[in-house]
Amino acid sequence: MRVYSGIQPTGRKHLGNYLGAIRHYVTGQEQAWAAGDEAIFCVVDLHATTVAYDPRELRDRTYDTVALLLAAGLDPERSILYRQGDVPEVPELTWLLTAVTAHGDLNRMHQFKEKSAQQRELVSAGLFLYPVLMAADVLAFRADRVPVGDDQRQHIELMRDIALRFNARFGATDGGEPREILRVPEGVYPTVAARVMDLQQPEKKMSTSSGSVEGTLYLLDEPKTIEKKLKRAVTDSENPPVIRRGPDKAGVSNLIDVLAAATDRTPDAVEASLQDARGYGDLKAATAEAVVALLRPIQERYAELRGDEAAIEAALAVGAEKARALARPVVADVREAMGVGPRRR
Ligand code: TYM
Repeated sequence: MRVYSGIQPTGRKHLGNYLGAIRHYVTGQEQAWAAGDEAIFCVVDLHATTVAYDPRELRDRTYDTVALLLAAGLDPERSILYRQGDVPEVPELTWLLTAVTAHGDLNRMHQFKEKSAQQRELVSAGLFLYPVLMAADVLAFRADRVPVGDDQRQHIELMRDIALRFNARFGATDGGEPREILRVPEGVYPTVAARVMDLQQPEKKMSTSSGSVEGTLYLLDEPKTIEKKLKRAVTDSENPPVIRRGPDKAGVSNLIDVLAAATDRTPDAVEASLQDARGYGDLKAATAEAVVALLRPIQERYAELRGDEAAIEAALAVGAEKARALARPVVADVREAMGVGPRRR
């Protein structure tokens, strides 16, 4: 059971990234370790170049993200942690996979529509091809499970389609089932907090690129900032206030989900525990307390790790070596099946 996931290098990872993805990387790492298989995690610096960005900052933001993943519990002894740009097999595979990717499918991607609308100067071809690079990330390792938040569903479906189409087109055997040259991966989504919402605009997901600073709980926010942002979180005007989830109660539902995820309880259990609360203030205070406690050890560990960039580079070099060793034979199989390059002996 091979596990794979990727994350963008931005210095300001938020609670949605943690509850929706990062904490499940750690679970995936432990499951793969127990099963004797690999868990592979990638900081996707090539993806970061698909929108306007500052090249002087990209490396630092990559270090920030690596330090955060290590602080959250990824262990290079137990999993492979690498930087996307260090593994050239992946962009090569991206190009090869464009042969079985429909232009129309890429055009339908929500993320492409949203992000292209935000670009002032240039909508890059890279932004359009983003999902193919993401498919190559996973398919290069024949991964089985991909822990991600709910916003990545469409990308995961596309990578499954690409793998299926590749096998059907290039794995054809005389009369039989096509060979599985590429593994068709499955997305794994959290049962709680798969989509953490912005505290100020609870109908929108918490996001570094499109959310509000006041509505986003960054993983490195000070406890006081977390308390303040939660105190000001938008709820609703139901009178008397009722702490329950519902489609008409986006803000309250989000706080219940966050509190449930942060304390490892079900949302139902959280609702029941707050039956006697006096109002939304109690829900906000309990959520702040739980989030501060959840993030404290990560913040402390991050502060220890982030300063040593040489150690981060050394860990990434080891990860890149291991990643390349796994990706190389897969890309060789793809080239062979596609008739690219010399025949293999
Ligand atoms: P990125 O860097 O935007 O987000 C990293 C992970 O965080 C999850 N996430 C959320 N989960 C819950 N609530 C939210 N508000 C929220 N916001 C973000 C994302 O679903 C993601 O799992 N395209 C990917 C990176 C990527 C990748 C991959 C992922 C590149 N290659 C291969 C998996 C496999 C992205 O931009 O994630």
